[in-house]
Amino acid sequence: MNLLRSRLVQAALILIVSYLIFQFAIRPPAPFSVLSLYMGIVLLAVLVYVSSDSDSWRAFLRPMHATLVDPGKRALRLALMIVIPLLLGYYAYTQAAAKPQAPPELRAVHPAPPDTIQFRGKDFKIAGGDNPLRKDAAAIPKHVAAGGEIYVRNCMYCHGDNLDGKGHFAHGFNPPPANFQDPGTIAMLQEAFLFWRIAKGGPGLPKEATPWNSVMPAWEDRLTEEQIWQVIMYLYDATGQQPRRWETAHGAH
Ligand code: HEC
Repeated sequence: MNLLRSRLVQAALILIVSYLIFQFAIRPPAPFSVLSLYMGIVLLAVLVYVSSDSDSWRAFLRPMHATLVDPGKRALRLALMIVIPLLLGYYAYTQAAAKPQAPPELRAVHPAPPDTIQFRGKDFKIAGGDNPLRKDAAAIPKHVAAGGEIYVRNCMYCHGDNLDGKGHFAHGFNPPPANFQDPGTIAMLQEAFLFWRIAKGGPGLPKEATPWNSVMPAWEDRLTEEQIWQVIMYLYDATGQQPRRWETAHGAH
């Protein structure tokens, strides 16, 4: 019972019990930052309590003072001088030691397109394919305008009203929607590659694009062939990018 009278033991018990309550009784578990905040408040309260009058404060300090200077406590002093640095060292080690990590996901962002795809039941050549709507230069502004409408109706909420991949839903997806303003996306792709990606979406990605967790929808059943070419023209027009040509692409391969 004498031990329980000691201010130091009381303070330590309050701290331990409140830690156990915060850690195990609070559901859902509080994050570490909240936990340390609570413990800081409890520590403050305990310090206020033990220092409420000078007798109690002296009683609180006495055991610590005794441990530091009493000739009879040499053995305890020595033990503490070994144990405390060891504990600190162990803590530093656990913080600094390399932790096992899941390997990064290697995902081919721009996998090689298939040579041909099936678009609504008919064969559709991707390799060497060009946007047929570009042949009639006079009609281009009309197609770009139609593509803009298609974009706003179907693509904007993922790819963003600024075409920068920051649409309303974008933050919920990993991989994030493509940022068409980035020179690493449509500027380095042929229009036929885009056609394939838009028509077949995430579900149409080949094996090297694993894990197949892209939410890019397949538009094949919702947009016509012409509409897909139109939205592609809008993407290049609105971003000021130029589609990659097949000649340069062959040189690079
Ligand atoms: C539900 C969200 C969502 C919608 C809607 C959406 N996309 Fe995507 N899109 C994505 C995601 C995520 C990616 C990146 C992953 C990938 O490449 O599949 C992507 C990738 C793409 C790419 C490939 C770009 C590259 O660099 O390889 C193109 C092109 C594209 N989208 C066009 C469109 C068009 C056009 C529309 C509208 C008709 C559209 N997207 C609608 C989510 C979406």
